[in-house]
Amino acid sequence: MGMGIAQVCAQSKLNVIMYDLSKELLDNAVRKIEWSVSKLVEKGKVKGSVDEIMGRINISADIHSVAKTDLVIEAIFEKMEIKQAFFETIDELAPKKTVFASNTSAIPISQLAAVTNRPDKFLGLHFFNPVPMLRAVEVIKGISTSKKIFDFGKSFVEFIGKDPILVQNDIAGFVLNRMNMLTNLEAMRLVENKVATPEDIDKGMRLAFGRKMGPLETSDLVGLDVQLMAYSNVYEEEQDSKFFPPSILRRKVLAGQLGRKTNRGWYEYNDDGSRR
Ligand SMILES: NC(=O)c1ccc[n+]([C@@H]2O[C@H](COP(=O)([O-])OP(=O)(O)OC[C@H]3O[C@@H](n4cnc5c(N)ncnc54)[C@H](O)[C@@H]3O)[C@@H](O)[C@H]2O)c1
Repeated sequence: MGMGIAQVCAQSKLNVIMYDLSKELLDNAVRKIEWSVSKLVEKGKVKGSVDEIMGRINISADIHSVAKTDLVIEAIFEKMEIKQAFFETIDELAPKKTVFASNTSAIPISQLAAVTNRPDKFLGLHFFNPVPMLRAVEVIKGISTSKKIFDFGKSFVEFIGKDPILVQNDIAGFVLNRMNMLTNLEAMRLVENKVATPEDIDKGMRLAFGRKMGPLETSDLVGLDVQLMAYSNVYEEEQDSKFFPPSILRRKVLAGQLGRKTNRGWYEYNDDGSRR
């Protein structure tokens, strides 16, 4: 997600510093972004040259370099403690005016903002996967987010060529995932109960409801571990059984069947990404 966010910002003429734990991870991310930008430029979907766009993306494995930016968009793995530790550190390093945003799928924005001394300058900017393709971005108002920063979030999303979906209240799962989650969980339960195969469920959702991808195809793309973490967070907060992750999802994650990234999830894949 971080790669995609860096890419769309650079495509909109913003200078970006991409931060991760090691230079190897960052070099790999730059290679992937360059491949994606080349495709978009080739198809005429993005203006400017590949070199120009890539020239706006700097990388650093030193957290001090992120602290120099005007806006920090965090897209770390969906684990509360890791995200909170990051924000505690960056809050000490960044100037008071720097705005903080999280791309979390399901952790309350207010809970992340609470570890900083600037909860008024903290908001949710929730992008969708794949970021360069999908236009929706949820702009989430935490309990302490100021109106000015919420409005800034909306303008920022428009500036980078996306469409803001305003989430006025920091509710578990926000708006789009909260609704989508119930469909996804039901699809998993239908597979678990052997009512229908993943193929039929996905085909049905594409043909009957005009979706580009079915819920289980999407699950493989997003990552079953990422979804399990997100659903568990929502369930923990709501204590409503409709959000409880079914056993089949928990078992698949324990077995390392995480979707496309491990070549196996609801479907099996070859190394080139094609379905077996
Ligand atoms: N995958 C999706 O489809 C999707 C969609 C919307 C939102 N999100 C959210 O975006 C966030 C990232 O998800 P992802 O799928 O890209 O995860 P990922 O595991 O693919 O990437 C997470 C990145 O964070 C880095 N990281 C880990 N600890 C770090 C630290 N302490 N400091 C800096 N970087 C660190 C990792 O090296 C890795 O590059 C999560 O909060 C997730 O809920 C994911």
